[in-house]
Amino acid sequence: MIKMKQIFKKNFCSKVVRIEFNKLIDDTANTNKEIDEAFNKEGLGAIVVTKVPNLKQIRQGVFENCKGLVFSDHSKLQDHVKPEIAYLAGFEPPGIVNNDIPCAAWDGRSCAETIRYPQDPELEKRFENSWPPHLPQFKEKYQACGQLQVKAQLALLKCFDRYIGKGFEYTKEGTESMFNKFKDNFNDQQRMLMYYPIKEVKSNDTWGIKFHRDFCLVTCLIKPGFFTADKLEEVKTSYTALVLSNRKDERVEVEYEEDELVLQSGDMSFIYSNGNIMATPHGVITCADKTPKNCFRFTFANFFNPSYDFSLVPPFNHDLEEILKKDIFRDKYKWSMFEKGTIFADITIAAHKNLYGMSNEKI
Ligand SMILES: [Fe+2]
Repeated sequence: MIKMKQIFKKNFCSKVVRIEFNKLIDDTANTNKEIDEAFNKEGLGAIVVTKVPNLKQIRQGVFENCKGLVFSDHSKLQDHVKPEIAYLAGFEPPGIVNNDIPCAAWDGRSCAETIRYPQDPELEKRFENSWPPHLPQFKEKYQACGQLQVKAQLALLKCFDRYIGKGFEYTKEGTESMFNKFKDNFNDQQRMLMYYPIKEVKSNDTWGIKFHRDFCLVTCLIKPGFFTADKLEEVKTSYTALVLSNRKDERVEVEYEEDELVLQSGDMSFIYSNGNIMATPHGVITCADKTPKNCFRFTFANFFNPSYDFSLVPPFNHDLEEILKKDIFRDKYKWSMFEKGTIFADITIAAHKNLYGMSNEKI
């Protein structure tokens, strides 16, 4: 049983590591210290990126989209609801993920909206984006956020490469460049999330999503915004409801600013770093003293994935079992999907359903 009572105690856990955006994207910078503290076996598996140019303005654009959607007539958006590819494209009405405290989402793929699979029109069509027709500039505001996030995510892969190559507890032997592997083989999938208001806030309730790890390479999150249910006025607070955990089950609430991004490592980073970059368990958790009452929580997550046609084979011809021994949170359901020849599109829907349905006890 997870020690949920510990979540909101102060000063018991590792601090969240921060790095400036300009340093993150500088290929010549030595970022090994920050990467080690954030992603080694005792780290939180996440890092906060500070001083991100244009982020405040882009974030406001995201919130304008969120406001437009929650005040829209959802019955008119039925054509954009795609249950067969839930979590991946189109509108997700409130109540699907968590019936008690609903969350709505608008999902999209590929921030540049390029044709990724010209050789496979069926795959291209299956994951086609759609956009709400009645909200001006929706797509542009949506994609602006995704494009900025991908820049940070690609830069983090380069930092992982430099960290693994230089070696702390391990050597370069048996590793290969994650950036080179995925720079032309990725699919960035975005979820614009609208958590619906809670009238009576208790501590340690999940809000829209339970504790889980993401299946992707790197998740990127903007700072959530809280907006009153009636007039959608923003409530200023440093509280985010994002809680991370490390391998010791130490938990920390993450506080970050409007011009900052959180980058979290997912299961694919764990695998393709040969088990050296840990994936972080995380959830959106309420706190009676801090969660604004009767407010929406808006945010925007970008999941940097292998491309849908990427064949999921263990890296470097290593034995997958050997890599998985380094993961104390082994989850047989997910890893059993990791079979030679399986393409990412085949497993991604099942993986998402499994992630979002995972109970606290399972981690
Ligand atoms: Fe997640």
